[in-house]
Amino acid sequence: MSWFNQARYGMIIHWGPYSVGGRGEWIANRELYSKKDYTTEFVEKFTAENYDPRAWVKLAKEAGMGYLVLTTRHHDGFCLWDTDTTDFKSTKIGAKRDLVREFADAVREGGLKVGFYFSMADWFHPDYPGAHRRDWPDSWPDEAARQRFVKFYCTQIEELMTRYGKVDILWYDGCIPSPTDGTAINTCIKQLQPGILINNRNGAPHDFHSCEQAIKPAPAGHDWEACMTLNENWGFHAGDHQWKNARAVLRMLIETACSAGNILLNIGPTSDGVIPQPSVDILREVGDWLRRNPGWLADSDRSPFTWNNWGRITVKGNRIYLHIFNGTGPRLRVADIGNRVLRAYRLDGGAPVAFRQSNDLVILDGLPWPLKDPIATTIVLEVEGTPQTTRTQTSFWIPE
Ligand code: GLC
Repeated sequence: MSWFNQARYGMIIHWGPYSVGGRGEWIANRELYSKKDYTTEFVEKFTAENYDPRAWVKLAKEAGMGYLVLTTRHHDGFCLWDTDTTDFKSTKIGAKRDLVREFADAVREGGLKVGFYFSMADWFHPDYPGAHRRDWPDSWPDEAARQRFVKFYCTQIEELMTRYGKVDILWYDGCIPSPTDGTAINTCIKQLQPGILINNRNGAPHDFHSCEQAIKPAPAGHDWEACMTLNENWGFHAGDHQWKNARAVLRMLIETACSAGNILLNIGPTSDGVIPQPSVDILREVGDWLRRNPGWLADSDRSPFTWNNWGRITVKGNRIYLHIFNGTGPRLRVADIGNRVLRAYRLDGGAPVAFRQSNDLVILDGLPWPLKDPIATTIVLEVEGTPQTTRTQTSFWIPE
């Protein structure tokens, strides 16, 4: 897991024929498209004419991300690689290109980690129960259909695991009724791709927990990742302008780092392969801040410190990072510090900050005031030993 925890921040890309519609990735299901109409309206027009995965990789690097995860197929079942299992694929219709191969090559060439998102759902497959008129079917019509479908999806995964070089993450999504034979296929994946990480959406063995649109840390001892949209949709949506700003993204990163988790942030390129400008601008701004405030994110440890009213505290090694969101003056009282503080300084630029310590209370004085950074002002406390809190009660009572 070391590279995963080192990265703490990655990009997920929802891109497929639905991007043509510009109404999110559930269009086939929500708007009850037949496969025929979906093909003529969207798949044939999914031509990817400006697809340049190197530009995606470049942006991910500028943003400070360590890995990229591409929807090799979403719930519409359309494959972005040259599969032998169906003609419903990008090498046959629309783009006439193996989009997965170009993606994997570009990510590896850029020195980042390659992730494949794979939805097991398949709204148009004859053996997928309820086809596309149901959200998540809960049972198979019969055992023979189940076996055929499981064989179908496992064959597709096997292709992805054997034809595209080293794959670093298999990112499952899209429930299908159980049993999915997940343990058998995951065991096989581990043999085909030693070192690959698998999320927990198709049973054990898996390597990390995944939560969606919420920061829900996995219990201590478990690695985890929260996937988040940048607006309110995963796939490109022409009418969705509800962008999170750089400040919101950084707060999510800080919040997640407090519990040693990762953020997998979504982008939804247009059907030609271009990342919407607002996404580009936000990611660049986040990257700029991370470059000015380096070191706290990669490999952050679980923070023992509880809540306060001014910001968040992340920890790493013998450093405590005070991320101040709501400053109220040049002085900050930080309680519950169980270590002797050796040094205090601003992360951005390294200017020392005066402090005094009385037992577990540290009083910082002479903080730059007013705080100029609208995102956060981060102060580093270098301490003796591993950061510890003196507070024994970390939760508080809320009346029912
Ligand atoms: C939700 C969406 C799905 C998306 C996924 C990412 O489940 O319904 O379309 O791919 O989130 O985790």
